Amino acid sequence: MKTSNIQGYCAIGIYNGKTDHNIGTLWRSAYILGAAYIFTVGKRYKKQTSDVTRTWARIPYFHYDTLEDLCNNIPYDCCLTAIELTEGAEFLHDFEHPKRAIYLLGSEDQGLPDSVLEKCRKVIKLPGNSSLNVAVTGSIVLHDRAAKLKLELPPNHR
Ligand SMILES: C[S@@+](CC[C@H](N)C(=O)[O-])C[C@H]1O[C@@H](n2cnc3c(N)ncnc32)[C@H](O)[C@@H]1O
Repeated sequence: MKTSNIQGYCAIGIYNGKTDHNIGTLWRSAYILGAAYIFTVGKRYKKQTSDVTRTWARIPYFHYDTLEDLCNNIPYDCCLTAIELTEGAEFLHDFEHPKRAIYLLGSEDQGLPDSVLEKCRKVIKLPGNSSLNVAVTGSIVLHDRAAKLKLELPPNHR
């Protein structure tokens, strides 16, 4: 098999996310839009009874206590990509997604601090003068990835 035919994988997570509802929403999008797993760094996620799609049964959730913990556990040749509305970030519409990517979002109140952005190989942003909701942002990025890489997504389910 030609290696260029391999569709790769991605994961998405939130650094010090504040609300479980956002993490739950992102987890659901992550499954539907083809992410391999979801994670949190810092603040841990407590499962919501409102998760009617039982996403936890479909793709795994991992927790890292610190950014260092995340960085020490990144799979081989996988690109840590920050998603942040910051100067110097590349616009999503021009962005070529890495075949293997870990997307990292910031918290609802603080965003991603510079110390975290410095550890990321790439930084991407969506246009706008102010921030979108964190789960909405992650969902748009995953959809962009799926569309550009023409990914085969999980089949419809009930
Ligand atoms: C509500 S925003 C954080 C807002 C925070 N008060 C700030 O000013 O940085 C939460 C997260 O969503 C993501 N986000 C929201 N809008 C974005 C945009 N236009 N481009 C890139 N990331 C965005 C980022 O990961 C951000 O850290």
